[in-house]
Amino acid sequence: MEKKLKRIEEEALKEIEAAKDGRELEQVRIKYMGRKGLFTGFMKSIKEAPEVDRAAIGAMANKLKTKLSALFEAKSNTLERGVQKTALSIDVTMPGTGNVEIGHKHPITQVTERINEIFISLGFKIAEGPEIESEYYNFEALNIPLEHPSRDVFDTFYIKGPTLLRSQTSTVQIRVMEKEKPPLQVIAPGRVYRPDAVDASHSFMFHQVEGFMVDKNIRFSDLKGALTLFARQMFGEGTKIRFRPHFFPFTEPSAEVDVSCIICGGKGCRVCSYKGWLEILGAGMIHPSVFKAVGYNPERWTGYAFGMGIERIAMLKYGITDIRLFFENDLRFLKQF
Ligand code: PHE
Repeated sequence: MEKKLKRIEEEALKEIEAAKDGRELEQVRIKYMGRKGLFTGFMKSIKEAPEVDRAAIGAMANKLKTKLSALFEAKSNTLERGVQKTALSIDVTMPGTGNVEIGHKHPITQVTERINEIFISLGFKIAEGPEIESEYYNFEALNIPLEHPSRDVFDTFYIKGPTLLRSQTSTVQIRVMEKEKPPLQVIAPGRVYRPDAVDASHSFMFHQVEGFMVDKNIRFSDLKGALTLFARQMFGEGTKIRFRPHFFPFTEPSAEVDVSCIICGGKGCRVCSYKGWLEILGAGMIHPSVFKAVGYNPERWTGYAFGMGIERIAMLKYGITDIRLFFENDLRFLKQF
């Protein structure tokens, strides 16, 4: 009988081990432990054993019973864990669910890229400059004297001593001219900062594109030609531009430039306050003092410069009436572009 029990043990062990899933394991359990199972049968047969051996065999059988139920339990746990594992692992060959949202470029980025594209087609190259600047690049080199209101602490974000957040991209004129020799045709897009109270048309941070050209015999008409081409490509073929006399310390003569209203075409409407014109940028011929600051001979070199606010261009192009919308990250707004 002892041998028989040993055989049952060996075979049960082998079959438990071989079970590949819960169903197979259950079949093995029934085969041995079920009502008509092999182990159950053995238990029943103990009473037929000789008196003397009965107690010992009973003890052995009980031990095996405990061992087998522990093994069934353990195996069942491993199989279950295996199932969970398969469920969790990712099948990389499965087709995707197709509902991943793909983002797109911010309207300011789109407009910046369009402006870049137009000027690149006219032969301009792109340059960049730092947003944390020195007073020298933001003011001195651009012929802005100490007493100029834009140097006031209320009009500029000062950081430490003569360090500040640039208030205009004109700084890049100086940085490029210091490093390179004419002829130059450069645009410089980037962020600028002014401590303005935020409202529908003001933000403490906005974007500008600076543009300038330096060569021999550059005339005001060259500036006019470049800006006319730009306005037509940006706002449509029929767009006209006009220059109004203005003052900038770093250009002479200086002008503010308007485009014919892109909403009403110049007839007068609410967007242009019934003037027919919309201001889009500041421009002029580079001041001799600026050339001197970078070591260019003002008798020899001539050039023009202009600077425009990108938010302003985007607002006109898309009919947006509040600059804050660009910076609030509201997807209901951003998804429209
Ligand atoms: N830097 C000027 C501004 O921020 C714009 C400008 C650039 C004007 C270049 C003339 C020439 O207002």
